[in-house]
This record gives sequence, structure tokens and C-alpha cells, in this order.
Amino acid sequence: MNDRSKSLDEVTISGVGYAIPERIVTNHELETILDTTDQWIVERTGIRERRFVHPGMALSDLAIPAARQAIEHAGIDPRQIGLVICATSTPDMAMPATAILIAHAIGADRAAAFDLEAACTGFAYGMVVAQQFLMSGTYSHALVVGGDVLSKFINWKDRSTAVLFGDGAGAAVLSRVTGDRGFLAVRLGADGAGSELISIPIGSRYPPSAEKELHTIHMRGREVYKWAIDMVPRIISEVLALAKIAPADLDHVILHQANLRIIDAVSKRLGIAQERMVINIDRMANTSAGTIPVALAEIVKQGRVKVGDRICMAGFGAGLTWAAVLLRWTCAKPFPQQQCQNKSLVSTALAETSY
Ligand code: UT7
Repeated sequence: MNDRSKSLDEVTISGVGYAIPERIVTNHELETILDTTDQWIVERTGIRERRFVHPGMALSDLAIPAARQAIEHAGIDPRQIGLVICATSTPDMAMPATAILIAHAIGADRAAAFDLEAACTGFAYGMVVAQQFLMSGTYSHALVVGGDVLSKFINWKDRSTAVLFGDGAGAAVLSRVTGDRGFLAVRLGADGAGSELISIPIGSRYPPSAEKELHTIHMRGREVYKWAIDMVPRIISEVLALAKIAPADLDHVILHQANLRIIDAVSKRLGIAQERMVINIDRMANTSAGTIPVALAEIVKQGRVKVGDRICMAGFGAGLTWAAVLLRWTCAKPFPQQQCQNKSLVSTALAETSY
């Protein structure tokens, strides 16, 4: 249905939400099962702790409460949502798509729904896809969820990746509005030449019966690190140039939380003050598609984002994929004060995580 006649011609974020597991796993806990130290992890990555779901939980157990919170923040009826996108590499099942489970649970009965796989860049990709559907007039509201439960795909024999990841999901409602421009510039990219640098090989080439290690995360971290500190400043510069905005005019920069040293390097290279770089990797670790929407919802919840603030988000990761989204914040609504954790499912999980 195309209802361009309403002359709604801009797209903005009208609500955000997030959900994280209650179970906290500290570096010190990992010291007891891996040949690693808190000092190595903190110095090389900035991570102090991460959150893991209960073994019986799946992505939708985080994605659904995150989505509900974003809808409450946006103040819309879920039936107004025309499109649900779930960006993830760790869906509940190979099929059907987790987005369809989310749409059903939240009561977005009429929505089209699909999963989008762009690894750690997935949420930024999802926002751009949703933005295009809204700009074309196809829908008035879209829900984009980004999240992963990588705790289930960790190779506990590989200390170089095992310490890096956590679980979490965030969500945003995107809405078509009149004149209150939210999206200022976007950029997406991918390069399959780097497809072997980060992977979870299981799939049709390596089916579930294949060797157990192929079910887990593989990463050539140092090569990814070098690529990221070159690529991320470039894509941010590109969206800033498109919108004719200087780095110093950004109020918040939300990078994919893969390594604090990458965030510091980008801030130095672009001359962006450190206090404008949003950081939660110390508490959340790398939640892949979850890092950007969780960080966004956290700073909104903390009251750090004012109407008119300029926010730049940049994702990068497996594929290789990358994306930058430059936004102007237009949402004046208060953040819902409800608890984000899905308590009934999470509280029984304490001490049950198996490594
Ligand atoms: O989310 C998708 C995008 N991902 C990224 O952007 C990740 C980018 N890469 C990185 O963040 C970093 O490369 C890592 C954090 C993954 C690794 O840091 P690094 O400084 O590049 O370390 P490295 O892999 O070069 O390893 C340095 C040393 C090695 O020992 P030797 O060979 O120098 O004796 C490793 O065996 O650190 C050792 N090491 C560890 N030591 C203690 C690796 N992992 C650990 C560990 N604890 N957990």
C-alpha cells in the first residue's frame, strides 16, 4: 500500500528499547576456565564483563522485550507497524525468521517480517532498509531489532575469541513524519574478499552434523582490527561529507563495540572528543548486531540525548560489511521506565551457564 498522499516525507527514530540478560560473567570468572587474565582482556579490548543468556533461551527472548519497549517509547499501536526486520547472525531457528516470531509476539499482525544477516553491521543495515521502505511510502512505521546470543557459539578452546562476546538486543521504531528529518545520510558496503576473516561456518556447506568447532566463532582478530581502524573513519567521513557536517558537530558517536582501542583510534583519527564516543563494551562486550541499538537505547534512557543532537552510528564486521548512519534526534518522549530484562526467563539462569 502506497499512501504518499499524506505528504509525510521524512524518516526518523520515534522510539528505542533494549534487553540484556541478567547473568553477568566477569573476566575473573573466565580466568577460572581459560588461559587468560583480566589484565589482558581489559588492556587489549576494554571488556570487563559480559552478559549471557540462560542455556534454554534464544534471541527472541531478548528481542521481544526490546521491541516492546521501543514501541512503548514510540507511543504507537503495534498494529501500525508495517515492517519488522530482525538483524542477527544467531536467529532462534534456521527457519522461520526470528522477525516473524517477534512480529507475532508484539501483535504486529499485519507486518511483513524478515531477518537480515549483516553480522555486527546488521542493525545499521536494517535501519537503512527500513528507511527506504518508509521513504517510498510503503509503510508508516517499521521496527528494526538488532541482537545476538553469541554465548551459544563460543569456542571455549579458543581464548582469542572466547573472551570477546556477550548477548543483548536493541530495537528502534522508525516512522515516516512531516518535516522533522531524522536520517541525514547513510552509507552501506560489503567486501566478500574478507569473508574468511570472521565466520561461524555452520550452514549448508557445513551442516549441523559437521565437526563441532564449525558451529563456533572463528576470527582472525588482528587482520580485522587493522581493517576496522582504516575503514571506520572513512565511512564516518563519507556520511559527514554527504550531510556537510564537521566531526566536531557530532554529539554522540556510536561505533560497533568490538574493541575499546578501535573506538579510541577512530576518535583520535577524526578529532572527535572522547566524551562524545559512546562506550558500553566494558559492561556488555561485543553483542554483534546488538551493540549499536543497545548503546543507543542506553544513552536515551540515561537522558544524554537531546532533541536536535547529531548521532553517528557506524557498524563493521563479518562479510566484511560496514555501514554508517547519520541521524538527527527528534524524539522528545520520555523513555519508558520499565525493567528491560526479561526477568521471568532470566532469573532462573544464574550459575547454569555451561562452558
Ligand atoms: O565484531 C566484529 C569485528 N571484530 C573486531 O573488530 C575485532 C578486531 N580485533 C581485535 O579486537 C583484536 O585483534 C583482538 C582483541 C581480537 C586481539 O587483540 P590483539 O592485540 O590483536 O592480540 P593478538 O591476537 O595479536 O594476540 C596477541 C597475544 C598472542 O600471544 P603471543 O603470540 O604474542 O604470545 C595471543 O596468543 O595475546 C595472546 N592472546 C591472549 N592472551 C591472554 C590472545 N587471546 C588472549 C587471551 N588472554 N584471551
